[in-house]
Amino acid sequence: MINITIDGEEYQAEEGMSVLDTAKKNNIAIPSLCYHPALKPSGSCKLCAVEIPGKSGRQTATLSCILKVKEGLAVKTKGESITEARTRAFHNLLGMAPQSELIRNLAKSCGIDLGPPPDGCIRCRLCIQVCNDIVGPAALKMEKRDGKNYVTPVEGRCIGCGTCANICPTKAIRMHDVENVRTISIRDELIGRHPLERCEGCGRLFETTTFLKHIGNRTVKHPDVKEHHKYCPTCAKLFSDRIRSVHRHNRGGYGRGQ
Ligand code: SF4
Ligand code: FES
Repeated sequence: MINITIDGEEYQAEEGMSVLDTAKKNNIAIPSLCYHPALKPSGSCKLCAVEIPGKSGRQTATLSCILKVKEGLAVKTKGESITEARTRAFHNLLGMAPQSELIRNLAKSCGIDLGPPPDGCIRCRLCIQVCNDIVGPAALKMEKRDGKNYVTPVEGRCIGCGTCANICPTKAIRMHDVENVRTISIRDELIGRHPLERCEGCGRLFETTTFLKHIGNRTVKHPDVKEHHKYCPTCAKLFSDRIRSVHRHNRGGYGRGQ
């Protein structure tokens, strides 16, 4: 048996065991992703760094999955150089797997802050512009958080039209119609949740009550348009085509005599 210390506590290990094996056997937390007990260590994730005294006596960070135990070895699992090495390793891994929650959670459990996860937004501002300049409610804004810009909802402004989700080139804004409710969100933040109305023509759920009210207010001076505002686009087109053909017929247009 070989005697080593980990963080000042004494442990025994078998000849040929790695420091990581010994730590795991004794429930000492050292993060590792590329370690597998049945396979030779590859040292690729670089998360399992520990500190040992180097040849000059200075503490040096090294990979515990590769480091074999030897009599009297004094290992530290916490320290500045370890945190630096792990932070570098976590960032490197996230560069390859930015969507990985496992990496973020593991970093968190080691007390390492990797910043907010990517939200798929390229900050093109199309959603903000279309909501401000075309639709009108100004339900989105750019907000600085920890020095970075984020598209965020303006509380209580969304009318549920979904134009932001439709114009977003990366689909960072998501819109879901479930039963009779429409939900629009970005990241885990709610932009708006609204009940849907049925088309008076075909009965299909097609638009939010709030959006129809908004359009009703905007078109109040245009009675022809207002009359159609509870029809879905397909029915609205059908009805307006019919009205146009009646008008043509009454005016003696090209439909006459057919
Ligand atoms: S959410 Fe979409 S539309 Fe809005 S700024 Fe980001 S990428 Fe552009
Ligand atoms: S466990 Fe991945 S480098 Fe050691």
